[in-house]
Amino acid sequence: MDLLPVAPIETLRQRRSAKWRFHPSDVLPLPVAEMDFDLAPPIQAALRSAIERSDTGYPAPVPTLSDALAGFAGERWGWEIDPASVTAVADVGVGVVELLRVLARPGDPVVICPPVYPPFFDWVPEAGGRVHEVPLADGRLDLPGLERAFATHPAAFVLCNPHNPVGRVHTRDELTEVVRLATAHGVPIVSDEIHAPLVLPGATFTPILTVPGAAAVAVSLVSTSKAWNLAGLKCATIVTASPQMAALTDRLPPDTPWRIGHFGVLASVAAYTEGVPWLDQLLATLDARRALLGRLLAKRLPMVSWRPPDATFLAWLDCSAISAAPRDLFFEKGRVALEPGPRFGAQGSGHVRLNFGTSAEILEAAIDRMARATNGH
Ligand SMILES: Cc1ncc(COP(=O)(O)O)c(C=O)c1O
Repeated sequence: MDLLPVAPIETLRQRRSAKWRFHPSDVLPLPVAEMDFDLAPPIQAALRSAIERSDTGYPAPVPTLSDALAGFAGERWGWEIDPASVTAVADVGVGVVELLRVLARPGDPVVICPPVYPPFFDWVPEAGGRVHEVPLADGRLDLPGLERAFATHPAAFVLCNPHNPVGRVHTRDELTEVVRLATAHGVPIVSDEIHAPLVLPGATFTPILTVPGAAAVAVSLVSTSKAWNLAGLKCATIVTASPQMAALTDRLPPDTPWRIGHFGVLASVAAYTEGVPWLDQLLATLDARRALLGRLLAKRLPMVSWRPPDATFLAWLDCSAISAAPRDLFFEKGRVALEPGPRFGAQGSGHVRLNFGTSAEILEAAIDRMARATNGH
């Protein structure tokens, strides 16, 4: 399969998105989770034809988006979604916060598993809750730790699957145990599955709602924004599979679906219905980049330890053998921007997160700069 091309860096630097605007032009940006590949052709066509029609009004996600998601999830994961159980939200962050507003009373604990996507630490207090940390153990869910936490009756558990930043895809057995514990202690699971389409060769994704018994305790959030690079278009979905959980989405602010992006709906429908061959090409490309990163690290930065991710275009690098503050070292001496590990929780000390959703050339240049920055360290 042909790998996806990436435009030259001068062209990438003309983008106006966060990744390409936050740093001076001598810095190679590999932090924020945007990819450098060109948009999938069917998405480009859908957006171009909308512009040509002056089709820039309010969004109409029902039934096109719900049907498209149901078709994709059924084909890809054997996950049968009832389109009527899909609620559109502006993005996954909005979806999690609005669900937590329904689930948590002021000050209620909400369980998360750091190191984890930094906004999880913000979304919980934004909704009035209090973060209760059950850190990953060796990069996996700490099931005994979750059992102890669930026994204190938190308002919810926000699960990240696949897990950003460690790239772990939780196994069916692990998720079955999480559902058993959540059911036993009456803890609703809010499962952030935004990275699900980005599961790489060698791993298998289990949608939480395909686990027996999960429908009564879990809701899932999915979106095209990571896999097809559509974050700026503002469109995601909440999926439920039981009347109990559908009652939660019934309590969301009634205007919620009006707050999504019309272009996000059009692009997401194109992604789910016509963007799968491109997605498969992307996964082959990311698989190759993951392998390249492994070779480059072994050769140029052997003090870095990492576990190649099962999913995503994000690598979680333990650089503690090099520096206690590796992000600053790589930024100041190497002019490479990476996400600082401590943003993902105290467990991220000595780590950085590197975005390999880019060209082989940019990846090679970044590792070269990082290796030179460590000279003398
Ligand atoms: C796990 C996870 N959830 C949510 C988001 C953000 O999604 P959205 O832009 O839809 O809020 C990201 C972005 O990288 C993420 O990694």
